Amino acid sequence: MVAPNLGLEDVIVGTSSICDVNGKTGQLIYRGYDIHDLAAHTTFEEIVYLLWHDDLPRRSELEGLDRELKAARALPAPVVSFIEQLPKTASPMDVLRTTVSLLGIYDPDGRDNSVASTRRKAVRLTAQIPTIMATFHRSREGKGIIPPDPSLSAAANLLFMLTGEKPDDYAVHTMDVALILHADHEYNASTFSARVTIATLSDLYDAITAAIGTLSGPLHGGANEQVMRMLLQIDGEDEAERWIRGALERHDRIMGFGHRVYKTDDPRAVELKEMARHLGERVGQAQWFRMADRIQKVMLEEKGLYANVDFYSASTYYVMGVPIDLFTPLFAASRVSGWSAHVIEQLENNRLIRPRSEYVGPTNKKVVPLDQR
Ligand SMILES: CC(C)(COP(=O)(O)OP(=O)(O)OC[C@H]1O[C@@H](n2cnc3c(N)ncnc32)[C@H](O)[C@@H]1OP(=O)(O)O)[C@@H](O)C(=O)NCCC(=O)NCCS
Repeated sequence: MVAPNLGLEDVIVGTSSICDVNGKTGQLIYRGYDIHDLAAHTTFEEIVYLLWHDDLPRRSELEGLDRELKAARALPAPVVSFIEQLPKTASPMDVLRTTVSLLGIYDPDGRDNSVASTRRKAVRLTAQIPTIMATFHRSREGKGIIPPDPSLSAAANLLFMLTGEKPDDYAVHTMDVALILHADHEYNASTFSARVTIATLSDLYDAITAAIGTLSGPLHGGANEQVMRMLLQIDGEDEAERWIRGALERHDRIMGFGHRVYKTDDPRAVELKEMARHLGERVGQAQWFRMADRIQKVMLEEKGLYANVDFYSASTYYVMGVPIDLFTPLFAASRVSGWSAHVIEQLENNRLIRPRSEYVGPTNKKVVPLDQR
């Protein structure tokens, strides 16, 4: 047996033409396009098309996908009733995981794993995850559920269903870019989980349910919520530096910093940092950005660690009025597009994923009968 590589660091376990991450140069590429170019010139719907096909859509192709996504946003009535009966205190990520699993039971394509069927299921899931989030959030607040609005883009509709108010263009653009930035990230933990799950020839719902569970942990998507809870504990900008130095002295793990692949700026954090700054200034809440900026400087100076995607998304979502416990579901609302692309790619050239472990337990033991132990 070769020595185990805990965490599979730098291990290549497959090929993919969906997404490339270059940790040395800080580049993120979706199907050949740089993330900064995509963030500046496309919409989330174009990214969904890009991830599910080989290239960006022509206008008619985009309109076709957009129509399908809009038509699929409403949840089946029994699923809405199910969400309404859940405890108001439930974690939205638990609600999302369980409801996605439930949706599989109602999907007209059943467990058909053909590409056409899996793509139809992916359309439904991508359209319905924001509806699940908003339905649970409105229901736990005792507010009326807002039906999806087919005149709105994915980003605008998501904000509208949460708040009941039509968002302004700036908020829609910010949300749209956030969705673009989170859509895919190569073989990250939740995507790998989705690929392992579909590789048994289960189905898309199984794979996405597993991926949501994997995303929820604080070492992965759950970090964005923890970042905001940390910022809220700090008493102002001037306190930030002292606070973070104290946390480092206690050897605390600081959420929103470090990355398995990026050893330089995470390009998503570069985009989000600017968005957090602009948005904070615009709504008169610049303190979060300033606090975060001070923390980032100390982390780089003391630990050589860069901010990752979750660090600046936290204050961006917060000043947009998104409740903290919906930050990670929001990540899932975007990443479902990447997960689905990977599931389809895995199915196209599938082999069961089954690694080995090195056995380090006891050997040659003999069973002592129960009444003699
Ligand atoms: C992302 C993450 C899980 C990557 O982990 P990894 O590649 O396994 O790296 P390790 O946990 O082995 O960390 C390597 C070293 O950096 C330190 N480190 C890494 N991230 C750190 C952080 N956020 N805060 C403090 N120290 C950190 C570790 O303590 C370790 O130091 P040591 O070698 O002195 O023990 C890790 O950086 C982390 O926990 N970050 C915080 C959670 C987060 O933001 N997750 C979202 C990722 S997009």
